[in-house]
Amino acid sequence: MRLRLLTVSLVLAASAATAAYAATSLKTTMKTWKANGAAAADMVSGRTAFNEAELRRILETFINDSKGFETRIKASTAEATDLKARFAKLEADSAAALAVTAQPSQVKGRLSTIFNNCKSCHDVYAN
Ligand code: HEC
Repeated sequence: MRLRLLTVSLVLAASAATAAYAATSLKTTMKTWKANGAAAADMVSGRTAFNEAELRRILETFINDSKGFETRIKASTAEATDLKARFAKLEADSAAALAVTAQPSQVKGRLSTIFNNCKSCHDVYAN
């Protein structure tokens, strides 16, 4: 886990000197994603009231944070390329969900696609 975090942080950071900052910001973003993801899942499952504006805000956070990670990945190693593609996929899947927020039943399916991205990246990089 530590080693993986360091690996990903180095990919995200411009240099080893900024890797510590990258690790902190990665963790902070991930924690926000967890809370936001749970809030969105509760909403579309009817456990909490559906709030389209809040759902859109959450999806926009996934999109913007993913874009931020993609921009920060400058290396062209296989690992960097893979991570960039994973964030790009999360971004695209979040945009697909954003397009149907008026239909909660459709958002539900698209949210599970989003969560599959979380899980598949963690299986490789955060296990
Ligand atoms: C492209 C890869 C990638 C994607 C996509 C991804 N994560 Fe992560 N996530 C990581 C890595 C790497 C760590 C390990 C950080 C660490 O070791 O603390 C992590 C850690 C976490 C953690 C633990 C943070 C902590 O407290 O240390 C949570 C919670 C989390 N992710 C939630 C999510 C959610 C929710 C999503 C989807 C919306 C998501 N992640 C998508 C790479 C990813």
